[in-house]
Amino acid sequence: MRDYCDIDLEHMLEFAEDLAVKAGHLIKELRGGKLEFNYKSGSELVTSADLKSDELIRRELTAQYPDIPIYSEESHKGKTDFYGPLWIVDPIDGTVNYAHGHFNVSISIGFAYNGELKLGVVYCPFLYEKFSALVGHGAFLNGDRIYCNQIDDLSKSIIATGFPYDKTKRPALMDNVRKILDNCQDIRRLASAAIDICWVACGRLEGYFETVSLWDMAAGFVIAKEAGAAISNYGPDNPDMPKEFNCECMLVSNQKLHRKLKDILYLK
Ligand code: IPD
Ligand code: CA
Ligand code: CA
Repeated sequence: MRDYCDIDLEHMLEFAEDLAVKAGHLIKELRGGKLEFNYKSGSELVTSADLKSDELIRRELTAQYPDIPIYSEESHKGKTDFYGPLWIVDPIDGTVNYAHGHFNVSISIGFAYNGELKLGVVYCPFLYEKFSALVGHGAFLNGDRIYCNQIDDLSKSIIATGFPYDKTKRPALMDNVRKILDNCQDIRRLASAAIDICWVACGRLEGYFETVSLWDMAAGFVIAKEAGAAISNYGPDNPDMPKEFNCECMLVSNQKLHRKLKDILYLK
């Protein structure tokens, strides 16, 4: 398999950053016009902007890197080789926020090979915030280095989570939500998993837990890891996927609180 050296990865990150910003401009512009709304399954919203952002990102990644497959929420199909080189894309993370005129909306582009997440960019176009990281080179917000905070007292911690679109899966989460509320200062639901993870990375949150999809967390994983976060799962391993791709029962937190949070959370 072709190897990717640091120089390749640096160029790829630059490219992905520019592309995420470009997609960000596009979705901002589209929100000012007429959007079309559709529902994928049950209550899972997809707008015409999700699809247009996906088209733009796919077109530009394919033109620049024709040999690298793309695993995108809106266009992946067939079998994916999770161990080969792979772009992992969420063209809009926070679609419900987007549709309601809220600001926590992001574009998430990650790259992995050999089953390891190597680089990621999460761009928040309404907040003008671009989080980025390349493995081994630190995490950045608009070019400034970021780190997780060092809060070690659960009662002073704010923890984010999310709720699945499938409402039948929600009751099982309520025990965890209650325990977090009992033990921590407060809970947040930002409604963009990529932003949740980046906010742990830059110290605005102490932790985040949720079961998500790979496109929600791939870029954020690298950003959080490079910012010094602890990342693990409070559910079972998935033997069919690379370890870093396990997005079931994901827990991202600062180092000081990871054990304490893991002791609270469990899979029902
Ligand atoms: C959703 C957001 C949300 C999370 C959901 C995701 P989407 O992604 O990340 O925070 O709770 O599980 O599906 O649908 O806005 O791309
Ligand atoms: Ca998403
Ligand atoms: Ca999405």
